[in-house]
Amino acid sequence: MRTYLVTGGCGFIGSNFIHHLFNTYGEDIRVVNIDALTYAGNPENLKDIETRPGYRFVKADICDKDAVRKVFSEEDVDVVVHFAAESHVDRSILHPELFVKTNVLGTANMLNCAKEAWQLEEGPDPLGNFREGKRFLHVSTDEVYGSLPEDGGFFYETTPYAPHSPYSASKASSDFLVKAYMDTYHFPANITNCSNNYGPYQFPEKLIPLMINNALKGEKLPVYGDGKNVRDWLYVEDHCRAIDLVINKAKLYETYNVGGHNEKQNIEIVKTIIDVLREELPDSDPRKAGLSYDLITYVEDRKGHDRRYAIAPDKIHKDLGWLPETAFKEGIRKTVQWYFDHQDWMDHITSGNYMNYYKDMYGNRKEI
Ligand code: NAD
Ligand code: DAU
Repeated sequence: MRTYLVTGGCGFIGSNFIHHLFNTYGEDIRVVNIDALTYAGNPENLKDIETRPGYRFVKADICDKDAVRKVFSEEDVDVVVHFAAESHVDRSILHPELFVKTNVLGTANMLNCAKEAWQLEEGPDPLGNFREGKRFLHVSTDEVYGSLPEDGGFFYETTPYAPHSPYSASKASSDFLVKAYMDTYHFPANITNCSNNYGPYQFPEKLIPLMINNALKGEKLPVYGDGKNVRDWLYVEDHCRAIDLVINKAKLYETYNVGGHNEKQNIEIVKTIIDVLREELPDSDPRKAGLSYDLITYVEDRKGHDRRYAIAPDKIHKDLGWLPETAFKEGIRKTVQWYFDHQDWMDHITSGNYMNYYKDMYGNRKEI
């Protein structure tokens, strides 16, 4: 039985990935989830999993050496899937140090503890010898590559790193640490750099769930700048399948870009959400009347706002046969439907500290 140590499993992608693992491998796996339950970690995301015999939750900070070491001493971990991070660019602009702590120091601690648990005293490799079958999958982002011009170009695995925000700089640093461990110790790892995900369980600070939540309440839809920044959107289950493939099929030390050739301007995303909500809500639903493009409000831009991201996923397609399976309109429809069906999930989040966050982030933002 293979044991996965997932960090940040109570967040958006981590919880989708744990669902993916149990749906795919059922009783044949064990999953240990280390999560500090920050504002972004929500145990409700794994309510249906928490009593499974193959699942264990450990509430701990990835920066806590003793706590992470203890998990490695209690479990024979085969694969680390490292999601835990501070993940929101806007928050990184306000609190950059927290991003350095979690994303850089936390990753360093995860690498050290895994290395300590997996390394062999002796072996043929002068750089390092590790137990058979061990692998550390570091989940990273396309934002490490910086910004592309509007009129063309793609991010390849060979594109030089040029991060702009404190978030992307901290993720780039964590990628470099993983690369350094691979080069220095032959530490068994891979890195994936993925584009923007969307789907169930995404915290409503991110564009798509924020717009769905505001639109359903008839509130303004705050679009930054001219709304023409481009992101490359991928349904979260397609990202989970890509990670699973890299763990099972990729050669160690390879890095893979993951993205769907699905570039959209932000304004297009917001309009699509309004259209889909109007299509899906029955005429009798009182929320439908207020749903129109008039809710769209252009506001002061994000500082250092990257203009365009676009992934070239050629390598993961060629090496591992991965392709996205969820068309954008279908993915948005499924996502909107999920948020309809989980209004209580959204209410639990938005009744807490979220309103303070929203006021701080958007209260003083000038309309333009
Ligand atoms: P998220 O913010 O939804 O979840 C992060 C999780 O990590 C939460 O459960 C949180 O409690 C936990 N966490 C944070 N700090 C921690 C700490 N110090 N110790 C232990 N747990 C901690 O993030 P997400 O959107 O699911 O992203 C997951 C990973 O994927 C991140 O590494 C992110 O950089 C990367 N990524 C995200 C996207 C995207 O579009 N969301 C795209 C590419 C890559
Ligand atoms: O590209 C991958 C990255 O995608 C991940 O590494 C990050 O963890 C994830 O948060 C995401 O970063 P972005 O900054 O691209 O995502 P966000 O949803 O915050 O914003 C998407 C775009 O929408 C961006 O151009 C900013 C814009 N935006 C966002 C919000 C929250 C708005 O116009 N209005 C908003 O209120």
